[in-house]
Amino acid sequence: MEAHLRAAIESQGPITFARFMEQALYHPELGYYGAGPLPWGIDADYVTAPQVHPALGRSIATLAMELDEALARPDPFALLEVGSGNGQLARAVLATIEQRSPDLWQRLSFTSVERGAAARAAQRDLLSPGRGKSVQAELPLSCEPLRGLVYANELFDAFPVHRVQQTSGGLLEAHVDVGDGELVERYLGPSTPALVQYIEDNSIDLADGQVAEICLNVQPWLAQVDGLLAAGGVLAVDYGHPTAVLYGPSRWSGTLVAQRRFALFDDPLIHPGDRDLTAHVDFGNLQRAAERLGMQWAARCSLRVFLIGMGATANQEQESIEARLALRHLLVSEIADAHKVAFMYKALGGDVPVFGRQRLDAPA
Ligand SMILES: C[S@@+](CC[C@H](N)C(=O)[O-])C[C@H]1O[C@@H](n2cnc3c(N)ncnc32)[C@H](O)[C@@H]1O
Repeated sequence: MEAHLRAAIESQGPITFARFMEQALYHPELGYYGAGPLPWGIDADYVTAPQVHPALGRSIATLAMELDEALARPDPFALLEVGSGNGQLARAVLATIEQRSPDLWQRLSFTSVERGAAARAAQRDLLSPGRGKSVQAELPLSCEPLRGLVYANELFDAFPVHRVQQTSGGLLEAHVDVGDGELVERYLGPSTPALVQYIEDNSIDLADGQVAEICLNVQPWLAQVDGLLAAGGVLAVDYGHPTAVLYGPSRWSGTLVAQRRFALFDDPLIHPGDRDLTAHVDFGNLQRAAERLGMQWAARCSLRVFLIGMGATANQEQESIEARLALRHLLVSEIADAHKVAFMYKALGGDVPVFGRQRLDAPA
């Protein structure tokens, strides 16, 4: 990957950090999420909530069942997971719906969208093929208008980000160049006016010298989902903060990290393709994007509040000791605090959906 990037930069000039991150993560053969190995399971680099315990999957299934009622049981009820990794979350969601709502199960149309080829292959092993289940590489550009639920766990934190630095002379953007045969970071003028626009639109006030990440892909992603969804909800679970916190002085150097075998590295340019790269999500921007599209923003809470609110700790007696310990571990883990759950919806009729507000809208 490094040699590939060096050759491209030497022939075409410096690339933006966002372009570098896009290649390092998603180059089909050399990228971290490209051909493999997978970052979850044996020799994992990091762990996500669904790898620990099925509680998140069960909670999303509960939400889907409530949404099904609110939508007056459409046929089909569309369930779409994006950035579905090895399919562990989907497996828990589907198993719960099959067990708890045979009626919804009969009407369910499940689509898993996962960019990485190796992860898609793992899903085919995990999710036995069945009626109305498909695994795709990209969101469809158009389809029959969907009624149902779109959900994603740790999708946005894997989107490429632009890195910017505020200086007395204006905003600069990190580019990746080659110096003395090594990949090096250089701050140049912004590659797109969209970066300054983002800062203005979200009322971000960066101090002189402060470095921050800006993800320009969340808003277009939500617009695409909004275009596919005639009625229903979108649930996003991710590391993140309200805008003022994410871009506040306590995150002076941004939140971007490289990760391998649970170790975190500050320098994102080392060993591209071998390490995960991730940055925290601007939930304020997500909310503004949803509202601009005319969606209702229902709630943002911590993953812990969401799991407990959706009943993850109920009826534990039938679970094995190992499963109960895993859930306890998840609920007290850093993931349960640092992950936020956002829920937005459209065209449900009435002002407030029957689910949600009371149970989900608790301060994170
Ligand atoms: C941090 S992993 C999370 C995987 C899984 N959701 C979990 O919780 O274990 C992010 C996943 O999103 C996928 N991804 C990133 N951008 C995507 C996109 N635009 N469409 C579909 N999948 C995407 C990556 O390939 C990767 O598998």
